[in-house]
Amino acid sequence: MLAAFAQRLEPLHSNVFDQLDQAKWEARRSGLDVIDLSLGSSDLPPPPEALAAIQRALADPSTYGYTLFHDTAEFRAACAQWYLRKFGLEIDPETEVLPLIGSQQGTALLPLALLNPGDVALITDPGYPSHGGGIHLAGGIPYYLPLRAENRFLPQWDEIPAEICRRARLLVLSYPHNPTTATVTPEFWQETLQFCQQHDIFLAHDFPYVDWRFDGQVAPSALLADPGKTRTIEFFSLSKSYHMGGFRVAYAIGSRELIRALRLVKSTIDFHPYQGILRGAAAALAAPDSFLDNWRQVYRKRRDLAVAALHRIGWPVPLPEATMYLWAPLPEFYRGSSAQFCLDLVRATGVALSPGSGFGPGGEGYVRFALVAEGSRLEEAIERIGEFLGKGTSGLRQA
Ligand SMILES: Cc1ncc(COP(=O)(O)O)c(C=O)c1O
Repeated sequence: MLAAFAQRLEPLHSNVFDQLDQAKWEARRSGLDVIDLSLGSSDLPPPPEALAAIQRALADPSTYGYTLFHDTAEFRAACAQWYLRKFGLEIDPETEVLPLIGSQQGTALLPLALLNPGDVALITDPGYPSHGGGIHLAGGIPYYLPLRAENRFLPQWDEIPAEICRRARLLVLSYPHNPTTATVTPEFWQETLQFCQQHDIFLAHDFPYVDWRFDGQVAPSALLADPGKTRTIEFFSLSKSYHMGGFRVAYAIGSRELIRALRLVKSTIDFHPYQGILRGAAAALAAPDSFLDNWRQVYRKRRDLAVAALHRIGWPVPLPEATMYLWAPLPEFYRGSSAQFCLDLVRATGVALSPGSGFGPGGEGYVRFALVAEGSRLEEAIERIGEFLGKGTSGLRQA
């Protein structure tokens, strides 16, 4: 059926998440109590200051029209201030910040600004789907950097063929990493920048989990390794740190040339977010650090409880250092088919997880838990998984 449409749709087509969505919906319709741990959509509320600012804006008719770039000045200033506070980095809010309707918009559109058809872009496998999707839409060729457990899910620069390095224009990374939960050090960004300089490659860093480390550290910005902002652009989202995924607000920050190029692409496609949402987002960015500390406590407890419960049912899932996820190597019976495992699981128990293969072939053999439910619901979900595995494995053994 897709043959009648543009060829660029082809690589975007096969989506295991669509199948899972359908199975979730059918499970609900059949009366199952669905516990949905498949999406990284936090169940906690945004900062009250953000909601109050949005509410005030709704009563202000001057906010109802299109939002042009100069109308976003207050938000951009809040973004620059946030980077200064968090990383000590000086940012020019006029030229080095661009508001986005979600960071996914930014990472998906950036390749249109940077790649000519046939140019190579380096992305990770597994990785976040919009990274590869944007490269395909731009006619670029993705080269997948395998992230393996034995390398702590970090790319291995010396394994990339010289010809690929020569043709590559863009490298897209994201740490703390979804789905593997891996983290990096400031030294990693220095090595990465050296690699990019050596091969004249732009660096895009998708950075929504900056506040999601549980060891008391702030995840390092890639811009710290490129303080002159010569070739780096970073994407921050209000979806995760401030629990505002549905509001669709984020920003790009970094090299003014990259910001200008991305702004050109974006301005052909849409305007900026609703003024009220930008005011709410600015209020969120100015919220005291105690807001972040409080939800981190909640998620740390969930993480500990879920990992302990999984160990109790005989599933030794590693304790992640960061992110809202668990990256769980599948029990042997299902190792080759994470999609089948997730479909069988949701149909039998109502528990929805994400198959590792949805993040690229390198994710096969894993499933991802998003810890987006209260502790008692997580325990309930894991109990059901325990029963399912008990039945499933003996069923498979008999087969
Ligand atoms: C790595 C990564 N980038 C981007 C996003 C989406 O962010 P946004 O809601 O700002 O589009 C997610 C959401 O799960 C993510 O994990």
